[in-house]
Amino acid sequence: MRTLSGVKILHVVGARPNFMKVAPILAQLREREGVRQVLVHTGQHYDAKMSDVFFQDLGMPEPDVHLGAGSGSHAQQTAKVMVEIEPVLLRENPEVVVVAGDVNSTLAVALVAAKLGLRIAHVEAGLRSRDWSMPEEINRVLTDRLSQLLFTPSRDGDQNLAAEGIPEDRVHFVGNVMIDSLKAALPRARESRIHQRLELSPGGYALATLHRPANVDEPKALARLLSALAGVAAMLPVVFPVHPRTRARMQSFTAPGLKIIEPLGYLDFLALTAEARLVMTDSGGIQEETTALSVPCLTLRENTERPVTITDGTNQLVGSDPDRIVPAARQALSAEARPGRMPELWDGRAAERIARILVEGR
Ligand code: UD1
Repeated sequence: MRTLSGVKILHVVGARPNFMKVAPILAQLREREGVRQVLVHTGQHYDAKMSDVFFQDLGMPEPDVHLGAGSGSHAQQTAKVMVEIEPVLLRENPEVVVVAGDVNSTLAVALVAAKLGLRIAHVEAGLRSRDWSMPEEINRVLTDRLSQLLFTPSRDGDQNLAAEGIPEDRVHFVGNVMIDSLKAALPRARESRIHQRLELSPGGYALATLHRPANVDEPKALARLLSALAGVAAMLPVVFPVHPRTRARMQSFTAPGLKIIEPLGYLDFLALTAEARLVMTDSGGIQEETTALSVPCLTLRENTERPVTITDGTNQLVGSDPDRIVPAARQALSAEARPGRMPELWDGRAAERIARILVEGR
């Protein structure tokens, strides 16, 4: 794997949940002599609030290459990334291509790298919802199949990969790299002024996010979820930073107690999560962050690819029916906070393990 000029590692980020997974790996590898890093941004997410603010908050370097892929249908977006990344991979010819998570950019780059015969490392491998209606599930399964190095965040990932016949020597249980970012950023997040700005008292509000196509693309499904949030907002203030996909479909919905705001940066969002009485979400990453912060989380989906957040953490699946969500929120608000325990190897050192395996092979 080593060459005379050192090892070259090419990292790819594209969408919001990629940034906090790649930032700590970049930082770890920067410390290692003889490692050259290339950072590629596919441009799947491009708004300042969906991308730039995360680079600033996470202390990431400017991307070396920007593909400018942008939005589109799944085929358009995946194809655009594929066409744009191919000459970059040919020119850079890295020893390893590191992809993270389960977004369209992840699979698009893995497909091209595999056909060029490049080694692929997948960060956050092995997660499975077993729900093939989710585009992310397709992206996860195929990216894992194409990768030579599979870095899992939890033991269920190892089991899922073994069940799919992925050779054991490709799989490395390294822990959760998102929690590296969370632990590193928490002291700075505590200095955020977001609570004052939104006139919220710590521990006295709920935080909500919604962006899954199954929840927001269909007007009836979205209306039901918004009515559930309004039902919870009758009990305590609910802050709702709205993803652009959701915003485009919400029109002018309002409800007393519901604070509808623009998407937030990493530090402000972390500050709000850390002090929330309750979080309601359909995001994968937020299920993990609430577990790490011991904050009760209601997941507004029927399944999760992150079961450890339920068995070990503070997460509960409540689906998308207001008749289930509002009572579950009432119950969570009246109960003693469920502290949960930190899942194995969610210790802030996952990137260190990944860097070692990438460079030393063990
Ligand atoms: C993508 C990921 C999803 C991830 C989410 C996090 C896939 C299949 N989905 O979903 O797994 O949880 O990111 O946010 O890769 N838009 C903007 N500005 C932007 C980006 C998008 O306005 O910077 C709008 C566009 O109208 C776009 C829509 O949001 O069409 C959806 O964006 P897209 O990247 O296609 O999917 P997400 O819903 O963000």
